[in-house]
Amino acid sequence: MKEIYIGLMSGTSADAVDAVAAAFTDKKIELLGTKSDRLPNDVKVKIKSLSNSDPIEIDELATLDNKLGLLFAKTTKELLKSLGLESDQVKAIGSHGQTIKHRPNDFMDGFSMQIGNASIIAVETGCKVVSDFRRADIALGGHGAPLVPSFHYTYFGSSQVNRAIVNIGGIANITLLPSNDSVSGYDIGPGNTLLDGWHKQHFNLEYDDKGIWASTGEINEDFLSLLLTNKYFEKQPPKSTGPEEFCLNFIKQTLLDFRLKPEDVQATLTELTAITIAKSISKAQPIDEVFVCGGGCKNTYLMERLLKNLRDFNQPEPKSTSFLGIDPQWVEALTFAWMAKKRIHRETTSLPSVTGAKRKAVLGAVYCP
Ligand SMILES: Nc1ncnc2c1ncn2[C@@H]1O[C@H](COP(=O)(O)OP(=O)(O)O)[C@@H](O)[C@H]1O
Ligand SMILES: [Mg+2]
Repeated sequence: MKEIYIGLMSGTSADAVDAVAAAFTDKKIELLGTKSDRLPNDVKVKIKSLSNSDPIEIDELATLDNKLGLLFAKTTKELLKSLGLESDQVKAIGSHGQTIKHRPNDFMDGFSMQIGNASIIAVETGCKVVSDFRRADIALGGHGAPLVPSFHYTYFGSSQVNRAIVNIGGIANITLLPSNDSVSGYDIGPGNTLLDGWHKQHFNLEYDDKGIWASTGEINEDFLSLLLTNKYFEKQPPKSTGPEEFCLNFIKQTLLDFRLKPEDVQATLTELTAITIAKSISKAQPIDEVFVCGGGCKNTYLMERLLKNLRDFNQPEPKSTSFLGIDPQWVEALTFAWMAKKRIHRETTSLPSVTGAKRKAVLGAVYCP
């Protein structure tokens, strides 16, 4: 009998909780249903303010942990209802949780914290929940990130062509899948996080729809060159990052010095995302095919700039992961549904070649209803 898993993802953009119901075989995915619920504005504001607080007030963190647990459970219950599924038909839910801080670098003091109380999700839905996917890898000296490469490797790998998969969420990450069956990957740097932040400062909207505002600006080469001097871009993998490192504070002083028009800043920040992705691909020769997923795919101007930069580096045109059979919006939620399956079957999902951990590990902790 096929096993049904739920995947829940709320990424660093804190835009929405994306949920999928799916069944997996080694080579195929059957996507049974999807649901995306925007996070309420007060919750989004709280996530952003806690992520930027140092230190964090424990009561506030715990309250938000519970609130997110309830929201994740609500989305799950509605998804199950829409599919006519009962909780006992679901083998497990894989919930990534909401990252509040990702600071994996300091050995033994390193951590990555995701919240969204998994016990609440389990009790509310009546399903087993797998959560806390990053800590075992960090305990083994790894970054605990990015985690998606093992899913990309399983479902997007090819023995004929060399592929790169780029996920453009708040942060952009890349998975390199050469045809020789090896895999590597890392966080490239900012995806949408700076774009969303700058846009929000000028309009009361969550993002620059299709990048229309950015497309009215001019890219400022001097500002861009300065942004590109950030040491993160030169670091050798394994490496991972978060909005703590790439937030508007990161460019505040530079911005004051440049006195640019706001739309020129938006155009230049878009170029920063596009050019750093294109450079990552050009560094990883040889690549035959490039596929993109994540919300950044909906930013038409960003996609145009990515295409332009890839052409400049003589790289292949980016295509949507739909060409590989998975809608770009659901790749991450599917990853965590699949990781729940792997955890339940006690199979490893971490990739030391990506995270730098000492060895592979079975990722995720199980919470029973
Ligand atoms: N229509 C759109 N136009 C431009 N950008 C968009 C659009 N839809 C989504 N996005 C971008 O995608 C982001 C969400 O992408 P997502 O993959 O969910 O990121 P994360 O994993 O960080 O939550 C939004 O914050 C926004 O920046
Ligand atoms: Mg999201």
